[in-house]
Amino acid sequence: MAGLLGRPDMLFVFDANEVERVFRGEDAAPHRPSMPSLNYYKHTLRKDFFSAEENCAGVIAVHGDSWSAFRTKVSRAALSAGAAAQYTAPVAEVADCFVERIRKIRDENMETPEDFLNEIHKWSLESLGLIALDTRLGCFEACEGSESQRLIDAVKTFFLCVGELELRAPWWRLYPTAMFRRYVAALDTILSVTLRHVDKALEEIKLNGSSKSLLQDLVTAAGARVAAVAALDMFLVGIDTTSTAVASILYQLSSRPHVQEKIYEEATKALQGRPMSPGDLNQMPYLKATVKEVLRMYPVVIGNGRQLTKDTVICGYNIPKGTQVIFQHYVMGNSEEYFKDASQFRPERWLKRTAQRHHAFASLPFGYGKRMCLGRRFAELEIHTVICKMIQAFKIEYRREPLEYHIHPMYTPNGPIRLRLVER
Ligand code: HEM
Repeated sequence: MAGLLGRPDMLFVFDANEVERVFRGEDAAPHRPSMPSLNYYKHTLRKDFFSAEENCAGVIAVHGDSWSAFRTKVSRAALSAGAAAQYTAPVAEVADCFVERIRKIRDENMETPEDFLNEIHKWSLESLGLIALDTRLGCFEACEGSESQRLIDAVKTFFLCVGELELRAPWWRLYPTAMFRRYVAALDTILSVTLRHVDKALEEIKLNGSSKSLLQDLVTAAGARVAAVAALDMFLVGIDTTSTAVASILYQLSSRPHVQEKIYEEATKALQGRPMSPGDLNQMPYLKATVKEVLRMYPVVIGNGRQLTKDTVICGYNIPKGTQVIFQHYVMGNSEEYFKDASQFRPERWLKRTAQRHHAFASLPFGYGKRMCLGRRFAELEIHTVICKMIQAFKIEYRREPLEYHIHPMYTPNGPIRLRLVER
């Protein structure tokens, strides 16, 4: 597609072999096209903060050497095998609170309220608060004026504004529209809260002498500013994605009681009535396969992209540097060419015993390569845990009109998700 409204030319790729070739041929700093409004915030409006130290602008809306240096500093702490496992117990506690909260807000028909997605957002923010800031934000019971409430409101405002600013005519480029001013205020709030928590982490390290969390690891290894910016970036991309995935998984499970039963049996056997501890989720392959299957058929990020940093041959054509290449994961994940009986929901296809071979690049919900999702391990821990807890607590039903999916900007069930949750 030729460049629209000053954007670069775009090429949509539906062939998994070509996706593989482009990803595997990436150079040291792949460029993922990203939000111009955030780019403007980091590199123009708040340039003084984000370029006060070398390579301190984060990974979102950052490219080239600056991205590469920042990512290197954060990757070890975020992607190591133990990074997520250390949060098993606290993440499980948050999931328990979510289940309790749902028990309170169900109506007399045992149905979740119209704004159930908002409740899932609270769970997601509470979980990420633990991981990125070492703190329980208290999202389920935050009170007016508290710092947690300010953060919750700021994150909500960010999501509300970002879609409008990115997808509609960019008037904000000409003058600071009301929407843009709200957006900037929200980003400023998120940043100031993350900075305050980093100060707290610094004090704790001084007191205890060693680091005990992702935040403290980052502060120790890379400095306070890197830790704060990493937390900011996690808040910007780690909440909507995870909550949309959970909403979609619960909705898909609601029409598949047999899948719920298998997960229930698997979890009961693995946990034997104990609280969840590191390693338990590894005994639940069917749960993990179910999550993979939902993300194959309904990936929350339907297509991921790169702006080519060099001329590249794709499908035999020479595609010039600068072109935006969009990999159509939704289309490939649902294509018969790559998945046998693609329209059938079949978690078994991901299990080792029964796995049918499929192209490794046809379903990539977390992206791939040097720029792949930095929060994948945390996202999986959060999602597996909360789905496990929900299935342990309830039989999930849905008795209303079927929901279509729409892009908002994540691929999400469109309409109130009124699940009927019956106690087990
Ligand atoms: C279901 C949940 C999630 C999905 C489906 C998802 C998906 C993605 C995708 C597709 C990308 C782009 C990868 C690429 O370009 O190859 C990405 C990047 C990223 N994700 Fe996630 N994500 C999720 C949750 C999270 C969470 C919870 C966090 C933080 C704790 C997070 C942090 C990031 C960051 C920082 C990047 C940018 C990496 C970079 O550019 O270097 N994500 N994610």
